[in-house]
Amino acid sequence: MAEASGAPGAQRPYSVEQISDDRIRVRVGDREFEADAFCPHRKGHMVHGYVNAARLRITCPLHHSSYSLETGEAITGPTATPMCVRETTPATG
Ligand code: FES
Repeated sequence: MAEASGAPGAQRPYSVEQISDDRIRVRVGDREFEADAFCPHRKGHMVHGYVNAARLRITCPLHHSSYSLETGEAITGPTATPMCVRETTPATG
């Protein structure tokens, strides 16, 4: 199981982990998202993606398409195909 984490001292710590063959979990601060494990463009491994914790985006390590963790929208890069994402933040209270 692969996992990456944000640098210590970052404003919003994050982690990315593979949770199944085709899904990853991204935690940013107290929010949690599930997303496709493979980029819609050419199947880059998103578990190795760069997370922008401030903007809630993940960027593919291959050709640098950037996706919203909240909507899956492709924001920058060589594809306009969205990624399948959903927020799974546990309820509080
Ligand atoms: S494989 Fe992800 S941007 Fe090309």
